[in-house]
Amino acid sequence: MAKIAGKRILVTGGAGFIGSNLCDALLAAGAEKVVCLDNFFLGKMENIAEAMKDERFVLYRDDARQFGVVQSILEKEKTEVVFNMATIALNYSFFNPFDAYLDNVQIANTLLELMKVGAFQTLIHTSSSEAYGTAQYSPMDENHPTNPTTPYAAGKAAADLMVHSFYKVLGLDISIVRPFNNYGPRQNAEGGLAGIIPATARRIRQGQMPVVEGDGEQSRDFIYVGDTVRALILAYEHEESRGQIINLGSGTDISINHLLKTICDCMGYTGEWEHRPARKSDVRKLCADASKARKLLGFEPQVSFEEGIARTLEWYGERYQ
Ligand SMILES: NC(=O)c1ccc[n+]([C@@H]2O[C@H](COP(=O)([O-])OP(=O)(O)OC[C@H]3O[C@@H](n4cnc5c(N)ncnc54)[C@H](O)[C@@H]3O)[C@@H](O)[C@H]2O)c1
Repeated sequence: MAKIAGKRILVTGGAGFIGSNLCDALLAAGAEKVVCLDNFFLGKMENIAEAMKDERFVLYRDDARQFGVVQSILEKEKTEVVFNMATIALNYSFFNPFDAYLDNVQIANTLLELMKVGAFQTLIHTSSSEAYGTAQYSPMDENHPTNPTTPYAAGKAAADLMVHSFYKVLGLDISIVRPFNNYGPRQNAEGGLAGIIPATARRIRQGQMPVVEGDGEQSRDFIYVGDTVRALILAYEHEESRGQIINLGSGTDISINHLLKTICDCMGYTGEWEHRPARKSDVRKLCADASKARKLLGFEPQVSFEEGIARTLEWYGERYQ
């Protein structure tokens, strides 16, 4: 079994929501060096404020698409493992579909080219349940067809195919994890790219109504970010995961109506909701078959939905009064 302790690790997108939580977890697990590469499209310095205090952590504010950039960093930092967490948020697809698509594909391409020439040993590549599109059956196992409905998701699916084919042809040391909907501290709370949980909490705090798009019966499989980060590390450590695509979800889907009601209950909000038309290309249902992660990684989410929502709202409450 591989060990994170003592490893030199690059995290692309390390100043983002999941990436920054991962950086903290890697430092806590005894990594020798954690190198964060982020272009700050959505990354935030406050996300890595704690990590920055650790002398084993180093930040590069640059573009993970660029071969020369990543090559120089890998050489300088003598990195052995890469966790690819960089992406441009799904909602950006509606504004600039080309960049939303290409960011996913080009970063994967750069990492694979560098891996092919031995610039680092192991890649833990992050996919997304959005690659599947709406559930054709439920729960969705890893053999579920991919039918992406947004350029973001198309970019994730395309990158997955590329990464998986490089594993097959070149036998590179690669695992692909496919998280379902993450939530928790540090998810972006501002502007049009905000996650639904922080955006709803912010609206309620500011005296606005929560917004529901469509009938609210579209559902997602929510997983707390701390659980995802633990599973990412397990995916590195369990070498049986090489060449595999592994869902990371709870195995239960929750409707947006139920999610909003839970947030309202937690925040003591009893007012009306604002109804808006359904989002174009919105996926109707996502629910993970989580058995492969259980079998290959011994992974089981530990934070229940209710507990996770309570922790998340407390975290946002402390920061955004
Ligand atoms: N949040 C979720 O619910 C969810 C669900 C499934 C999969 N994922 C995947 O998990 C990973 C992390 O997602 P997240 O929610 O933390 O997103 P995020 O937007 O919070 O973080 C992504 C980070 O990547 C950075 N970035 C984007 N393009 C870059 C580039 N070219 N070079 C360097 N940095 C770049 C951004 O600035 C940002 O900090 C992504 O691969 C995403 O597709 C997320």
